[in-house]
Amino acid sequence: MRQAGRIVAEVLQALAREVRPGITTAKLDKVAEREIRKRGAVPSFKGYRGYPASLCASVNHEVVHGIPGGRALQEGDIISLDVGAIYQGYHGDAARTVAVGAITPQAQELVRVTREALEAGTSAARAGAHLGDVSGTIQRWVESRGFAVVREYVGHGIGREMHEDPQVPNFGEPGQGLILEKGMTLALEPMVNVGDWRTKVLDNHWTVVTADGSLSAHFEDTIAITDGEAEVLTRL
Ligand code: MF3
Ligand code: CO
Repeated sequence: MRQAGRIVAEVLQALAREVRPGITTAKLDKVAEREIRKRGAVPSFKGYRGYPASLCASVNHEVVHGIPGGRALQEGDIISLDVGAIYQGYHGDAARTVAVGAITPQAQELVRVTREALEAGTSAARAGAHLGDVSGTIQRWVESRGFAVVREYVGHGIGREMHEDPQVPNFGEPGQGLILEKGMTLALEPMVNVGDWRTKVLDNHWTVVTADGSLSAHFEDTIAITDGEAEVLTRL
């Protein structure tokens, strides 16, 4: 899991360096696949329920599962890059939202709050804590800053499969839900909208967008539960 996580983190770093006005999301997908395979890993998204790419590239009001294509990024866009890889039978899964050149103060705040929400959720994730402590921490972090957490998509257990039990919502009640145990591995992934939390899926059956057209950001890490601070497996 550590090695799979490190590979995903390295690929995301390589992708973030490629992000600039004019680059297409299809080109970023090529980079993602090349960077995954050159490390001896396999892209886990490609072929998953028919998903056609190695990368999810979700721009502006796209929340998650944006399919890479001919769209060229423009100055002022934000893009969520989500990568999964399998290495020696284990999965890593992580996402970052990055700015394309200069972005508005509101977009900057959205990206910062979403990253911080993931960090706050990670800090709450330790052996003996309830899942609701993690979910509720993320929700409070986001809503107290005036943004909304997506409800229809959630984080998940991860290991030999990309998606394992339990589901890890980004909203919930402290003290509720299952008790975390040392050795559990989870993907925490807050998806945060400037406006309403509601989403819809485009006609391509994949791309999730905000129902109200507002901007959305997404950060995800694969973490391991310990007696102390969780170990973030997808951070360099
Ligand atoms: N990070 C996403 C998730 O946890 C990736 C799924 S995209 C898919 O669900 F293409 F693989 F479906
Ligand atoms: Co995930």
